[in-house]
Amino acid sequence: MSAAGSPVQRTVLITGAGRGIGEATARGFADAGYLVGAYDLQPCAWAEGDDRVVTGSLDVTDPAAWESALAELTARSGGALNVLVNNAGLLYGTPFMDASYERDSALVDVNVKGVMYGCRAAFPYLEKAVSPVVVNLCSASAIYGQAEMAVYSATKFAVRGITEALGLEWGPKGIRVCSVWPLYVGTGMLEGVSTAGMRNMGVNLTEGDVAGEILDLAEQTRRSPSGLLGRIRGLVGREVHRPVGQQATAMYLASQIGPGRVIRLVNQRLTS
Ligand SMILES: NC(=O)c1ccc[n+]([C@@H]2O[C@H](COP(=O)([O-])OP(=O)(O)OC[C@H]3O[C@@H](n4cnc5c(N)ncnc54)[C@H](O)[C@@H]3O)[C@@H](O)[C@H]2O)c1
Repeated sequence: MSAAGSPVQRTVLITGAGRGIGEATARGFADAGYLVGAYDLQPCAWAEGDDRVVTGSLDVTDPAAWESALAELTARSGGALNVLVNNAGLLYGTPFMDASYERDSALVDVNVKGVMYGCRAAFPYLEKAVSPVVVNLCSASAIYGQAEMAVYSATKFAVRGITEALGLEWGPKGIRVCSVWPLYVGTGMLEGVSTAGMRNMGVNLTEGDVAGEILDLAEQTRRSPSGLLGRIRGLVGREVHRPVGQQATAMYLASQIGPGRVIRLVNQRLTS
């Protein structure tokens, strides 16, 4: 509660919120009563005139840009940042050798360094917040390396790694770190992409499906008991990775229990 006795508004910063999953997530949080920081390279035109949303330019590969976006948003929120959604991402879907050094580097910069920089810059705000949570956009391509998406897949394995590691480091401090793992989602990211995996499995998710899971993770964290019980539950009881949709859930669960050679064979069949 605020000093005046009214509930304190929770605040979320979402990267890559100009379109796609980021936009849908920002709209969902605004409808749920959050103060939303919607940041992207491109203007978040959809939020024009909406005073529930602070918009601005943020290149996630630039640490200084992170510092100023966070300062700007928390000046509006009275210092609070409860939720960070590291959503900005790039993809190319081609055989590995059809890309280039530049394209490989761009994917690593945005998908991996962007998440690291965001976590580092946001930590001092999250540390002070009530029920803080980081949600990273991982992908079903972090279950098993995906042909024709080798570098993308590798970046999402890195997101998986940093999510798990920071979940362990920051859990005892009361900060939950988790990720969502969708398979193919019908956004602009997949325009012009046609890999064998996409053709075999189809594009069966919408941005709203993913946004709903991200909001649910944040709200689940908010409803958790605080204090020691919440910290214990944070360490042992809550999921770290959430697959989105039936296909990703089946693939994720199979990868947890199936023998490695079978998982490889299945992925070979799905992506060729
Ligand atoms: N679309 C899918 O099939 C799918 C599946 C699994 C995971 N994901 C992940 O979900 C996230 C969002 O994907 P999407 O489908 O909405 O993509 P999208 O291409 O529709 O949107 C991505 C947004 O990120 C922004 N962006 C790119 N580089 C940036 C940078 N340097 N700094 C700030 N913003 C930047 C873009 O301007 C764009 O608005 C990504 O991390 C993606 O890897 C997508």
